[in-house]
Amino acid sequence: MKLFAHRGVMAHHPENTMTAFRAALDAQSDGIEADVHMTKDGKLVLIHDETIDRTTDGHGQVATMGLSDLRRVNAGVKFEVEEKIPTLEELLELCRGTSLRLNLEVKTDIERYPGIEERLIDVIVNQRLPVEQVVFSSFNHTTLNRLNQLAPEFECAVLLAQPLYDLAAYCEKIGATAVHPHVRTLTDDEILQLHQVGLVVRPYTVKTVPDLERFRRLGVDAVFVNDIEWAKAYSTP
Ligand code: G3P
Ligand code: CA
Repeated sequence: MKLFAHRGVMAHHPENTMTAFRAALDAQSDGIEADVHMTKDGKLVLIHDETIDRTTDGHGQVATMGLSDLRRVNAGVKFEVEEKIPTLEELLELCRGTSLRLNLEVKTDIERYPGIEERLIDVIVNQRLPVEQVVFSSFNHTTLNRLNQLAPEFECAVLLAQPLYDLAAYCEKIGATAVHPHVRTLTDDEILQLHQVGLVVRPYTVKTVPDLERFRRLGVDAVFVNDIEWAKAYSTP
């Protein structure tokens, strides 16, 4: 079972910052998850919320701010360190040449960011990151379908916070080959059924040893965790 560092190693570093992503690489994580939004001037940045209020010392909506405004705020305030909001390019550069999988969660479920799908593909292609290194996910499945139409060679994962009727058929219809369910969303049987039809399953976010053990027993492909070292300590036989 692979481990993905959720927003980087967010247990010990400010979430979605280069320090948190570098910590994942240093801890030999299998993958990194990051949240993607788009600025007013069309730049892709890594931050969880639609506003910068919770995670930085600034205020405002990402969609109404330019990159230069965003780069002036401190994204390390929660840990009393200095951090910039990273651009997607910075993370791609960190991952290039490594074996890390990169899960980019496209945050279009509240703010739609028209054109973000095209921009995302452009940036990844320009930065020459191998296709197989990237996994797109979103709670907005219209975004996934759009990404799949634009670049079907990339893996797309349905993010799921509630059960969905006939999930396997649904994934096929929108072009998704993976499911990222909340840890409580799917039953053991439902997870096994998804595997039987060849879908990749990566539950989020595993924070307890019983959940780690449950997903290892079920043979899921990967789990998202906030603390890679903690998960590794319980993953070694
Ligand atoms: O991608 C899994 C997980 O990150 C989705 O939820 O709120 O942490 O972005 P959230
Ligand atoms: Ca996320």
